[in-house]
Amino acid sequence: ELLSYDYNGFLVPPFPNVHENLEKLPDMAIRNDDVFLLGYMKAGCHWMWEISGMLLKGSAEYSLQDKTAAMLERAPQASLDQLPSPRVLNSHLHLHHLPREIFTKKPKMVFMTRNPRDIAVSSYHHLFQMAELYHYDGDWNGYFHLITEGKVNYGNWFQYMLQWEKDIKDHPELPILILRYEDVKKDPIGIIAKLAEFLELPRNDQLFQDIADKCSFSKMKAAKPAYTSQFRSPSASLFRKGVVGDWKNWFTVSQHEIFQTECENFKKQSTLFNIMDDASF
Ligand code: A3P
Repeated sequence: ELLSYDYNGFLVPPFPNVHENLEKLPDMAIRNDDVFLLGYMKAGCHWMWEISGMLLKGSAEYSLQDKTAAMLERAPQASLDQLPSPRVLNSHLHLHHLPREIFTKKPKMVFMTRNPRDIAVSSYHHLFQMAELYHYDGDWNGYFHLITEGKVNYGNWFQYMLQWEKDIKDHPELPILILRYEDVKKDPIGIIAKLAEFLELPRNDQLFQDIADKCSFSKMKAAKPAYTSQFRSPSASLFRKGVVGDWKNWFTVSQHEIFQTECENFKKQSTLFNIMDDASF
């Protein structure tokens, strides 16, 4: 068992005041220059949050705040309102949970994706470490079982992504850029340039290079707080491995087969998230 908050059938982490935060969220006032960073948990959101913040600031300096300060399901609305512009508001929620003004103000939205197998492994470590919040004492196999039952926060990844695919297709008027963790790993500067273009920021190759450098795994790990105070083992970090394909060290043959079938089904239904095309998956 893993501690979650059941919000109308959708499982979310049991953050303090999460019910109130979610209830108020649709009515939240947003700003024209807000950027929304969305996607399932452990897809590299901290990484992209830092990159986006640096791009908007126009300088490769780490944000003084933590991403959680701008996380819609976690931060109280009063404190979100206090954040200076431009904000990179972030969330793992669905479109229908988010501020309704999105449909009139049409802010830029960045959607992070990652191989669901690596997400599963990364999520397991995150949940296990955040013992106070999630009370999860099981092992990897136990967590995998919860995944197959959909009893994990933000629900089953495949269903989550298909719901987003539907919502994105139903709202072609919304500007959404879909990015893949694996692509950011492969070509950080290229992705940063693409993101800058999407955000309508001037091209600045030196800045893009500096941001890629500052946001490399090792530099971010050294520089940013890593929730260690909340983790059960002091040596653990939110910046765990930061690689593509760690799932191979965790999935058993039968777990791989289960995901393989899920991925095949998913591929048949998805045209937006061409995540499984890469042979390395
Ligand atoms: P791993 O657990 O596989 O290492 P999120 O920010 O969405 O919670 O995702 C966390 C995952 O992104 C973790 O994956 C973490 O190590 C990885 N990550 C964080 N910063 C990164 C960076 N600068 N470069 C590459 N991966 C990073």
